[in-house]
Amino acid sequence: VVSDSLDTKCKCHGVSGSCSVKTCWKGLPNLEEIASELKSKYLTAIKVTHRLVGPRKQLVPKEMGVGLVKEVDLVYLLNSPDYCTPNLHLGSLGTQERQCNRTSVGSGSCDLLCCGRGYNTYREEVVERCHCRYHWCCHVVCQRCRRAVERHVCK
Ligand SMILES: *[C@@H]1O[C@H](CO)[C@@H](O)[C@H](O)[C@H]1NC(C)=O
Repeated sequence: VVSDSLDTKCKCHGVSGSCSVKTCWKGLPNLEEIASELKSKYLTAIKVTHRLVGPRKQLVPKEMGVGLVKEVDLVYLLNSPDYCTPNLHLGSLGTQERQCNRTSVGSGSCDLLCCGRGYNTYREEVVERCHCRYHWCCHVVCQRCRRAVERHVCK
């Protein structure tokens, strides 16, 4: 993913911005773009088995209707463990005590993250900088405000 997402960036150094001399280099995109590409591969990963074809082993999709496995596909042989319950042997901590989002429907939602066990709600006070003012010259003075926030953690 990283080497496929390298892109070319260029900079001009000419008289008054003309492009008579140009420097180009290969650059990485944002880490978020790489992460989101990896996640989309994870979500579309293909379960495979291997089979001997002559002297060679070949990866064959286990699901019907999936064509040949391409070199850029992410594949797996065994299902992932159940991340809901702790399994220290596999290094999985489970989701108990994880903070979840009550209004979200995505992967951080209390519904999904707490695996149906429900969640506890508690209130917490956070101290934040607020009413910030710029003073000439050159510093910013802020006050500290307290704000109550509600947090939800999985049972
Ligand atoms: C919870 O999810 C909603 C909807 O996706 C989002 O707008 C909000 O910022 C999230 N809250 C927190 C604390 O992450």
